[in-house]
Amino acid sequence: MSTTTAFPLAFDTTPSSARRAEAEREAILADPGFGKHFTDHMVTIPWSAQQGWHDAVVKPYGPLQLDPAASVLHYAQEIFEGLKAYRWADGSVWAFRPEANAERLQRSARRLSLPELPEADFLSAIEHLVKIDQEWVPTAPETSLYLRPFMIASEAFLGVRPAQGVDFHVIASPAGAYFPGGIEPVSIWLSEDWSRAGRGGMGAAKTGGNYAASLLPQAEAYEQGCQQVLFLDSEERTWVEELGGMNVFFVYRDGRIVTPALGTILEGITRSSVIRLAEQRGHGVEERRFSIAEWREGVESGEIVEAFACGTAAVITPIGRLKARDFEIGAPDAEPGALTMSLRDELTGIQYGRVEDHHGWMRRL
Ligand code: PLP
Ligand code: COI
Repeated sequence: MSTTTAFPLAFDTTPSSARRAEAEREAILADPGFGKHFTDHMVTIPWSAQQGWHDAVVKPYGPLQLDPAASVLHYAQEIFEGLKAYRWADGSVWAFRPEANAERLQRSARRLSLPELPEADFLSAIEHLVKIDQEWVPTAPETSLYLRPFMIASEAFLGVRPAQGVDFHVIASPAGAYFPGGIEPVSIWLSEDWSRAGRGGMGAAKTGGNYAASLLPQAEAYEQGCQQVLFLDSEERTWVEELGGMNVFFVYRDGRIVTPALGTILEGITRSSVIRLAEQRGHGVEERRFSIAEWREGVESGEIVEAFACGTAAVITPIGRLKARDFEIGAPDAEPGALTMSLRDELTGIQYGRVEDHHGWMRRL
């Protein structure tokens, strides 16, 4: 598909009146929550089969105009990304591994028959938005500007085929902790009735349908007093896959670390970063099939000493308890694991510029 370059910006229609008053912005930044408030601007880049990517624009944040027949509304041809911009102590603003998000968006695009956005355009979109809305990057500890790039099939056409008209957008939202308890250990509910993905399905793509499928089991998790839902493989209902919005890791007493192998799960950028950090510390990291029985028996025998979830929104969050229909391991008030917290400190240290970035992960915006 077309790789026309969309930047530099064709035009910028932003009137200064598009900006909210400083007092309103500061009130939001003082307590941003997660995903509730949006900045003053957004980026849009249209694509058509004839023109490729063209006419990139930074414009005031606001509703999209979509034809009711737009194929995203009917056949869910949609993909998205999630990444954060961090404010360093010297005031500068940095993104964590945005190139990896650009690549993953391309992989998702291939799975969903959407056009691939060139990495340079993805990065330009992020840079333009963060530059114009830089006052929205919060300064308080553990806060950031969450960036949400997404791509939708906007062509009005009811036949089932890849859309010939597509739009890529980026919006931004100041963010505090994803879980209201901050870095308190979370409780996980084991979904025994529902799956997130199957072999040959869309599990490895970051597409809205996967999240729609997770909402019912996630509601069950809340009913059970748990913050996240854990999915098993759909065929044998044996193998641990991932949570509704995070990857999972298990730490053994001897220092080994296990995380479910790729295939039907999302290839988390936090996941791959954690693997690198842990290996550099000398931990053996096994990416392999890991059964729910292995988790249960490992905790009961004392072999598994820590479990944690990770993702852009959740960073690294200790798992305190796993609750299933007929068993439960751990406790909601379990102490966070030492390795979990130290990996978290190292990762957030790199992201906020407190720890040297030996990996070339941070990109100044
Ligand atoms: N798995 C799912 C289903 C997710 O939604 C996310 C979050 O994006 C992750 C894993 C973690 O991915 P990343 O670390 O790239 O944010
Ligand atoms: C992210 O971590 O970026 C996600 O998309 C997951 C979602 C739970 C917010």
